[in-house]
Amino acid sequence: MHWTRGRGRHVPLALVLFVVLFCGLLLSMFPDDDQGELRTPVHSGSSAEGGPARLSASAVMDLVIVGFRENLSWIEGVVANITPPPRVKLICKGELINDQRCQRIENRGTEEFGFLSHIIENYEKLAPITMFMGANPLNTAFDCIAWRSLHYVLAQVDTVQKRMAFPGFVALRVSGFDPDFDVWHYHAHADGETSKLCRPSVSPFGEWYQRVVERNLSKAACAGQSSSGIFAVSAGQIRRYGVAHYERLREEVLRCPGNAFTAGHYIERSWMPMFGPCLPAGRAGRGGALAEALLRADCGLFPSVFPPGSGE
Ligand SMILES: *[C@@H]1O[C@H](CO)[C@@H](O)[C@H](O)[C@H]1NC(C)=O
Ligand SMILES: *[C@@H]1O[C@H](CO)[C@@H](O)[C@H](O)[C@H]1NC(C)=O
Repeated sequence: MHWTRGRGRHVPLALVLFVVLFCGLLLSMFPDDDQGELRTPVHSGSSAEGGPARLSASAVMDLVIVGFRENLSWIEGVVANITPPPRVKLICKGELINDQRCQRIENRGTEEFGFLSHIIENYEKLAPITMFMGANPLNTAFDCIAWRSLHYVLAQVDTVQKRMAFPGFVALRVSGFDPDFDVWHYHAHADGETSKLCRPSVSPFGEWYQRVVERNLSKAACAGQSSSGIFAVSAGQIRRYGVAHYERLREEVLRCPGNAFTAGHYIERSWMPMFGPCLPAGRAGRGGALAEALLRADCGLFPSVFPPGSGE
């Protein structure tokens, strides 16, 4: 969650490329372990319905980036590593970003407000795959968890072949579903200020989830949680829920006056239980070895990639 957007120094393209090369190395060291099992059936016939045109259509991806006042120069490096490049949709909350790509929305909530606006407005015409993220992923906050999450997701969607085998949802799983989670104050890393958060309609997280997302917690309990609002999801998984579901989630954002609100932290923890797979206990699933490698990698090994003092 980015309550206070960073003003810190930012990362030159060369360093972004270094990170990407490093991840390529990680990937080659840890190939997808059980990708084959989760592949969706691919039609290889040449009939009108099963031909190449249809296959490439299913690999189309939108990259939805929600910003507030961040330096966006990193986007180019990320997009350059996805083939063919995704359609970039830059959603700018408020007026602080001066970029021709901006599709402006009100400055409410944090990145989830942009994600929900995109889903609600495009519910009938979503891309086969949408990758969602905030606009400041290259920061050291919370032990580089956004950085780790971004590289995990990118590694699952950066080629046509991988997108054609897309399992419906990918995000870096960071913990089990925690129904007792709650938060009253938030310490913003960028400027050290602590804000009191506007409270949600119900609490803690588990009760809120049952009321706003899904009454039955059994899938949430096995899917777990991701972090930082960085994930890719298929149109089919999004449409498991009707548009009213996303409007209800957006109400949780709009009932609070500013950007500092507890439900944002709940929503950040809801994407994976909402969209993610329920894997049998002990199974990491597709990209499990890469996830482990990324989670083990030392944030402190990348001092030049993450300039000290960069905000979250
Ligand atoms: C944004 O970041 C890039 C790359 O680090 C840097 O060259 C540029 O000066 C920054 N722009 C602003 C307005 O800070
Ligand atoms: C919750 O969902 C699980 C799995 O779909 C099902 O087995 C279980 O009976 C459900 N529980 C209730 C209380 O409906």
